[in-house]
Amino acid sequence: MNGHKFSSHDYVSSGLTPHLREMFWDDDFIIGHRDIDIHNELVFASYDDFRICARDINYNTHISKSITYLADAFNNCFALEETIALDCGFMLPKYHIDQHRQIVDNLYNVYKLPISRNDIILEIEHIFLNWVLTHLTVVDRKHMKIYLVKDKHKL
Ligand SMILES: [Fe+2]
Repeated sequence: MNGHKFSSHDYVSSGLTPHLREMFWDDDFIIGHRDIDIHNELVFASYDDFRICARDINYNTHISKSITYLADAFNNCFALEETIALDCGFMLPKYHIDQHRQIVDNLYNVYKLPISRNDIILEIEHIFLNWVLTHLTVVDRKHMKIYLVKDKHKL
C-alpha cells in the first residue's frame, strides 16, 4: 500500500485532541467492482471529514455528525456489497456479514461507551484502519474474486 500518507506522530496528542492518521483512497484499494469501489472511496472521504472535524475540540457537534455520516457510508457500502454478491449468486459467509454489522454497530453506538471524547476519536480511527487493513484489503478482495468467477458480465 505505497503512497498512503501516515502521520509521523501517530497517536501523539496535538494540543487537546489526538492527531489521527491520514489515510487517502488510491488505486491500491480497488477491489474490482466499480460500484463497490466508488462506495469504498466515499467511506475514505467520510473518514477524512471526521478526522478534520476531530482536530478541533470546539466542534463537537460537527464530530458527532461526521461519525454518523461515516457510519452511514459504511452501512451503504456494506448493503451494496451484500446485494451485489447475492445478485451474483453468492452468499457472503456469515463471518463476512458479521464484520459488516460489527463495524456499523460500533460506530452508531460509539457515544454509548463510557470513555472520553479523545478515546472515542481514537476508537473510530481504530475501526476505520482495522477495516482497511483486515477487511477491505483481505476479506473483500478474497470474496470479490468469487463474484468475478460467478458473474463476470455484471462487472
Ligand atoms: Fe465486506
